[in-house]
Amino acid sequence: MPDKVIVVVGATGGIGSAITHQLAKEGANLVLAARQSDRLATLTSQLPMANLEQILNVPTNITDPAQVETLMQKAVDKFGQIDVLINAAGAGILKQYNKITSADLEAMLDLNLKGSFYTCQAAAEVMKGQKSGHICNIIGILGKHSMAMASAYCASKFGVVGFSKCMADELKRFGIKFTLFYFGGVDSPFWDNVSLKVDRKKMLTPQTAANAILFALRADPQAVPMEINIQPESHLFF
Ligand SMILES: NC(=O)c1ccc[n+]([C@@H]2O[C@H](COP(=O)([O-])OP(=O)(O)OC[C@H]3O[C@@H](n4cnc5c(N)ncnc54)[C@H](OP(=O)(O)O)[C@@H]3O)[C@@H](O)[C@H]2O)c1
Repeated sequence: MPDKVIVVVGATGGIGSAITHQLAKEGANLVLAARQSDRLATLTSQLPMANLEQILNVPTNITDPAQVETLMQKAVDKFGQIDVLINAAGAGILKQYNKITSADLEAMLDLNLKGSFYTCQAAAEVMKGQKSGHICNIIGILGKHSMAMASAYCASKFGVVGFSKCMADELKRFGIKFTLFYFGGVDSPFWDNVSLKVDRKKMLTPQTAANAILFALRADPQAVPMEINIQPESHLFF
């Protein structure tokens, strides 16, 4: 994909770094964002890029719309276009509904819902001018199904589904595709600070998630993979 410019938000996370490695192998031009610049630098140093000019790190807190604007502007200043946005930043606060504080709820909505909204909004403005683009929102199965202990998280993720479908409708006439990914549990650092008892050995791997994202990016130009559901074998339901 040497002709593609791909912005990966949450690039240093489990899913983000797996897809970033894949895209680097494909020869894509990469704009990598997350808050911690040292982790972005470590990731970059591990990528199999022949040409370091193909990578731009932009430390960004996506809860701040001004920083998101700067991210997209820097991508355009360096590469002239944005072909793909991969939204893989997020976090989970999973506890009983009556233990969720207002700060917890705000944190979920600020990062998972509003942060994703800002990145889609800012990338779409660039893509509209190009009359093409592909936005991949890594939502998770809790964007369409409920789970005990996930009220605040589900509120944020169901919200991402809602705005993504509205934006997809508004933006299809500009050649902008949306793909919504509903992964079940993925064994990533996401779970490091979650006290809920889970069996990480039975989860999907970040590589499986990355393979699904790559599949969507490789779809024929006229085809839109609208939604991709992948559950671990131990958690199948229809
Ligand atoms: N793991 C799962 O089971 C699973 C399943 C389905 C869907 N998902 C969703 O997939 C996405 C990625 O999850 P993951 O498992 O890869 O999580 P992860 O390993 O914890 O990675 C999270 C990423 O988000 C970045 N981030 C966090 N807050 C940010 C902020 N305010 N601004 C910019 N970047 C921020 C982190 O970097 P910094 O800390 O440096 O900012 C990191 O790069 C999330 O939206 C998650 O809800 C996860």
